[in-house]
Parts: sequence; C-alpha cells; structure tokens
Amino acid sequence: MSFWRNAALASQPTPGEDSSMANERRPTTVMAGGGEYDRNAKVQSEAASLAIRLLRRAASEAALPSGDGPIVAVDYGSATGRNSLAPLNVAIETLRMRDPRPILVIHEDQPDNDYRSLFDTIYNAPESYTRQHQGVFGCAIGRSFYDPVAPPASVCLGWSSAAAHWLSGAPPRPSDHLWAPTVRFATGPAVREAARRDWHQFLSRRADELRSGGRMVVLLATVDDEGVAGGEHVLDGLNRVLQRQVASGAICGHEYENLVVPMFFRSREDLEAPFAGSDLGDRLTLLEHCRGIVPDPLWNAFVASGEVNAFAASFTAWVRAFTAPCLLASLDAQRSPEDRRAVADAIYGELETDVQNAPAEVRCAWRIATLLIGKQ
Ligand SMILES: C[S@@+](CC[C@H](N)C(=O)[O-])C[C@H]1O[C@@H](n2cnc3c(N)ncnc32)[C@H](O)[C@@H]1O
Repeated sequence: MSFWRNAALASQPTPGEDSSMANERRPTTVMAGGGEYDRNAKVQSEAASLAIRLLRRAASEAALPSGDGPIVAVDYGSATGRNSLAPLNVAIETLRMRDPRPILVIHEDQPDNDYRSLFDTIYNAPESYTRQHQGVFGCAIGRSFYDPVAPPASVCLGWSSAAAHWLSGAPPRPSDHLWAPTVRFATGPAVREAARRDWHQFLSRRADELRSGGRMVVLLATVDDEGVAGGEHVLDGLNRVLQRQVASGAICGHEYENLVVPMFFRSREDLEAPFAGSDLGDRLTLLEHCRGIVPDPLWNAFVASGEVNAFAASFTAWVRAFTAPCLLASLDAQRSPEDRRAVADAIYGELETDVQNAPAEVRCAWRIATLLIGKQ
C-alpha cells in the first residue's frame, strides 16, 4: 500500500479550475496566490531574518566558477518571492564584493505556484535585487525540490526558507486532526519516517546540484530537545471549526478526512543524521547548525496595539495563506468554484471569531533550525 495519500487528493481539481484540468501530479501544498501569501507571511519573514548571518557567511565562502559564466544562486521553495528579497539582497551584496560577474537567481517552487506574482515581484518591486543591483537576473523553475531542479554542479549558493518542512506527499493523519507535525501526534512516528526519507532526498538532490565548494543555507521549523515545536497548536482552531462544519453538515466527513496539511518538524538529531551517513556525509558537510525561537510578530503587534480584532484577522489571514490550497483541494470535485470559496470564507470566518474570543491560544514560539551546508 502506498504511504502517501496524494493520489487520492490529486484527483480533485483545485478551486476555480475545471475538473478536466485536474492531473495526477497536482500538488496541494502551494501557497495562496495573487499576493495573498506575500501580504500574510510576516511569521516566515521574521524567521528568515534569523538566518542572515549564516547566509552572509555562505555567500562569502562559496566557491565561485572560473571562466565567464554567471554565478548561480537558487531559492528553493520561493513561493511568490516577497520574503526572498531581503535575504537575496544580502547574498548578492556579499557576492558582489567578491566578483563583478552576472548573477543568475533561480526561484524554484512547485508547478502550481503563482509565478505571475513571483515575476511581478522580482522585476517590479523597488526592493527587489533586480532593482537594487546591476547584472542580476531572475528566473524560475516549476518543479518539486525533491526532484533535480538545476544541472549537476551548477549552483554556487542555495537558499531555502520555511519550505523543507513541507513533505513530498500527504502523510497519514490522525483521524481527529488535520496534521501530525511532531511525534507527539497520533500518526507522528510514521510521519517522522517519511520526513527522514524526504530530508535525505532533499539533501541528495542539492548535493548533485551544488558546485564543489558551494554553500547552502536551509531554514526550517524544528522541535527542541523536549519535542516542542512552539507552533504545533496553530491548526487546532481550524481543526475544531472543520469538525463543527462536519457536525452541522456544511462539509462532508470525507472532505474533512481528505484534508491533511503535510508538514513535519524534524528534531536536531533527524536534521543532522544524513551528514554522518556514508552516502551524503562524503559529499556534504554541516558547517553550522543554529537553533533559536522566532518572536511571534502577530502577537507582538497585538501586545503593542491591544487590538484583538486586528490580531484575529492577521492570524487567520496567515493561516489561510498556507492552508487554503490544501483545504480547497480536499473539498468535493462536484462543488462549484463559488461554493468552494463560500465554504472557505465560512470556515476562516469562524476561525477568526474563535481567535477574537481566545487570542492567547494561538500565540506561537516557533523553534527554528538554520543549517549552513557545504559541498565538498
Ligand atoms: C511557507 S512557504 C515559504 C516561502 C518562502 N520561502 C518564504 O520564506 O516565505 C513554503 C513554500 O515551499 C513550497 N514547497 C513545498 N513543497 C515543495 C516541494 N516539494 N518543492 C518545491 N517547493 C515546495 C511551497 O509551494 C511554498 O511556496
């Protein structure tokens, strides 16, 4: 029996699309498009700021190609690009101090990512590296980072933020929850095994793509030595709303059961294990592993303003931006796009009301791991 549930989900069309457009490989883990993710991804951008020192070190140490070719940097799991601009500007400034050659930045994400928004951002946003620096070119590749995405030995510098904790498929979920992001959840131990395999695969692909002496920085959510992620409760409220929707008949039981948010927050031990193994350990070196807690920017804004409704709206918009594509794909194929949108609006509307009534329940203290990796 296949471990993953993706095939079942993949047969569902995504919202707004005709069922004839559904295909076997359709992912359900892209972010909300049209700028919605970028407007509501402060938590991810706050996390990325923890990695700036390591990224500067990576850009100052990465071996550069000889000859006339460009310097290639890849942003793995870019989404629509806004959060990549600040870190990429740091990386490019650092590379520029070393070498005047053109730099090619490849943004990589899944095929269903909103690339129109990505290109608008990287070519039109005033703070984009293409506006801040001369001789820097942006392009995109729409393929899973669990597959090869760049030619062998072509990448000088890799960057991946808040992406590699998304798994390659939909893991078994507990019957009463829409995810199992740590081993403390009912199906967590099985998901951990899948996450181990995915991490090995992710690193193995990058080992192929990095040039000898290349550098990569990967930032992702993790659990601390007590097994706490600090954000494993963020979907509890959404889960409760969905269960109420099933009870009231607004959605069907199987639509709730179809929904899984496929993330897993690996431990220090699981993140470091591949570097000690004989296959990857001979190719990649873990140069630094920094661990920290991200200050919750949504909660801190609430503390400063005292505006509970604004906090509930910002929390709900953040959750919606990373869960709505999964949610919409789990709804029945026969539902019209308008119906799906109305169902989603009702679900996230109820979530917002619940957060207004109990804001402290959704405060987060995300444990974050940042790894600086070198290719030998
Ligand atoms: C939370 S967003 C992070 C986006 C951005 N890096 C940031 O820091 O805001 C996670 C991204 O990882 C992407 N992602 C998830 N699984 C992926 C895969 N297998 N291959 C490529 N990208 C993937 C999603 O599509 C999404 O755009």
